[in-house]
This record gives sequence, C-alpha cells and structure tokens, in this order.
Amino acid sequence: MIPENFQLLFSHKQIDERIHELAACISSDYHGRPLVIIGVLKGCLVFLADIIRSLGFDTTVEFVQVASYGASRESSGVCTMIKDLGTDITGHDVLIVEDIVDTGETLMYLIEKLQQRSPASVRVCALLNKQARRRVPVVVDYFGFQVEDVFVVGYGLDFDERYRGLSDIYALPPE
Ligand code: XMP
Ligand code: MG
Repeated sequence: MIPENFQLLFSHKQIDERIHELAACISSDYHGRPLVIIGVLKGCLVFLADIIRSLGFDTTVEFVQVASYGASRESSGVCTMIKDLGTDITGHDVLIVEDIVDTGETLMYLIEKLQQRSPASVRVCALLNKQARRRVPVVVDYFGFQVEDVFVVGYGLDFDERYRGLSDIYALPPE
C-alpha cells in the first residue's frame, strides 16, 4: 500500500512521543483553563484526535475548513473559509490545531478571521512546521517537528486526498 519511493520521515512511535511532550506543554500553559480547540480540516483529523486524548484537561472542539490547495502541491495563496465555526468564541482561549504550516497564508487568514470575533487569546499548535517556505510572519506557538521543503503525507496529511490513513509520515519524491 505504501509506494516504494516514499521516504519515511517520522514513525508513529516518534509522533506519539512528541505529542505527549506537546500536550504536557499545552496543559501546563493553560493550567486547566477552559480551552476551545479549533481543528483545521481535513489534515488535522488524526493529530487532533491524538492531542486531545493526551491533554490532561477537558476541552471543547470545533472545526473550520479553509480552501487554499487544489490537487497540486502549491498553495494558491488565496484562502476562503468553506466551513465556519458552530460557536461563539468571544472571550474564550482558542488553540488552532493544524497539520502543517507551510507558507503560513492559511494560518494568517484564519487568525485574522478569528481575531475579529474577540477571543481572549489565539495560539497555534501544528504537527509540522515548514519554516523554510514561510511567506508571511505567523507565530506557531507549539509544533511537533520541523520539516524541510518536501511534500509530506500520512497521519492525516494527503496528496490529492490520498494517504491520510497512513500511520507514519512520509516524504513524496520530488516532482
Ligand atoms: P500554507 O501554505 O497556507 O498551507 O501554510 C497550509 C496548508 O497546506 C497544506 N500543505 C500540505 N499538505 N503535505 C500535505 O499533505 C504537505 O507537505 C503540505 N504542505 C502544505 C496543508 O493542508 C496545510 O494546512
Ligand atoms: Mg491538505
């Protein structure tokens, strides 16, 4: 099921260990304050499920979906919210949970949208951080791993909607 030319980057065991470390940081920073987790669909799905079960306190979970990528590996740079929150976040601490921050355009767009609703705070937790590709200055408060300029799949991340169900994270061969 896994193509031969996919290169293993992070095993499920490595991801699991890192998630426990991230969850410990988040738990200690919020000291059990009520937290609204906002998952960015669809890539967040596996990461979010694991992180909320590692946190030592209860949270509420909401989802948004932002379109910026088509069937290619490149961001169009133009974002639209195709699924919005189902709740009012005014006065709440918010933690955005993303699979990967690449150019940062999606995150910048989302943070600006959420800030307009006057939350108490907005922070970001991403599993992967492609710092070298950043085009806009967004702060990723918590991240699991730094990745080079490669396209990655697995553990919720897709290429053209495929490979989300892989337990480990792989780099695709260069185009
Ligand atoms: P930007 O460029 O706005 O992109 O930071 C964020 C979104 O782009 C997707 N993305 C990827 N998806 N493998 C993926 O499966 C990748 O290597 C990758 N790089 C960016 C992702 O959906 C993210 O939310
Ligand atoms: Mg994606």
